[in-house]
Amino acid sequence: MSGFVTKPEPVQVPGLVHLHTGKVRDLYRAESGDLVMVASDRMSAHDWVLPNEIPDKGRVLTQLSLWWFDRIADIVPNHVISTELPAGAPADWKGRTLVCRSLEMIPVECVARGYLAGSGLTEYEADRTVCGIALPEGLENSSELPAPIYTPALKAEVGEHDENVSYEETARRIGAELANQLRRTTLDVYARARDIARERGIILADTKFEFGLLDGALVIGDEVLTPDSSRFWPADQWQPGRSQPSFDKQLIRDWLVSPASGWDRHSEQPPPELPAGIVEQTRAKYIEVYELLTGTTWA
Ligand SMILES: Nc1ncnc2c1ncn2[C@@H]1O[C@H](COP(=O)(O)OP(=O)(O)OP(=O)(O)O)[C@@H](O)[C@H]1O
Ligand SMILES: [Mg+2]
Repeated sequence: MSGFVTKPEPVQVPGLVHLHTGKVRDLYRAESGDLVMVASDRMSAHDWVLPNEIPDKGRVLTQLSLWWFDRIADIVPNHVISTELPAGAPADWKGRTLVCRSLEMIPVECVARGYLAGSGLTEYEADRTVCGIALPEGLENSSELPAPIYTPALKAEVGEHDENVSYEETARRIGAELANQLRRTTLDVYARARDIARERGIILADTKFEFGLLDGALVIGDEVLTPDSSRFWPADQWQPGRSQPSFDKQLIRDWLVSPASGWDRHSEQPPPELPAGIVEQTRAKYIEVYELLTGTTWA
């Protein structure tokens, strides 16, 4: 079982057409045809969108994405038009709303990995490859890879895992030229971000981008280089051979599988409400990663 513990009703704003409620974002179309993307405070873990919200999380994700978009703008243009609230939008949307160009999204989740973790580790342990890329013997959990690799995936329904595929499979689906452009751009943005994060004591283990087309040109969309789309590890605690503490969801994941939660993740039951302390500490983690990366104080 997985999905939303309770799926929220979309907020109605005159002049905006609600298009989609994602795990984290609510999408609307403005009369101009532009997309209005509102990042909620929803949190997902263990394939569930949890009953609690993490206050300010959507703002942190939005502000961090904006910060990164500026730092990669010479590599690839992005979808952001403005951060102004549409007329009539609730005050709570401030800081979490982006007016964006509506892109024709490319149905490939573009993942770059510099370290071995998650589904990459699982595949490596099975046959020493990740998405068809052969890797040397002797790597362990969280090892740095000899060089970053592009490991595309196909997007799954809410509650399902994305499916890793080979580069060749993406080329069959979207054409060789576009597949190659995705791979190149993903690895270029990863390398830039990895170096920036590294200077600030953070390892960018892996990250996922979503790209779209605007008049035939490649544009980066969605969110970028946030704790929800990336694995960030504190560099000073990095130790291959074990799982690394993640900056953001670790507390929640650990609590949910601990006896304290009373929840069996393999049961049909949805996860329970989180204790207030876990919510507050998780909020602090999101803010910490924002502050470490940007070098600014969260206002
Ligand atoms: N500029 C854009 N134009 C069109 N769609 C976009 C754009 N930027 C992001 N999207 C889409 O908006 C959605 C963002 O919502 P969110 O991140 O909550 O979704 P998700 O949980 O990742 O997946 P799902 O939408 O399947 O629930 C994604 O489906 C993403 O592909
Ligand atoms: Mg998303």
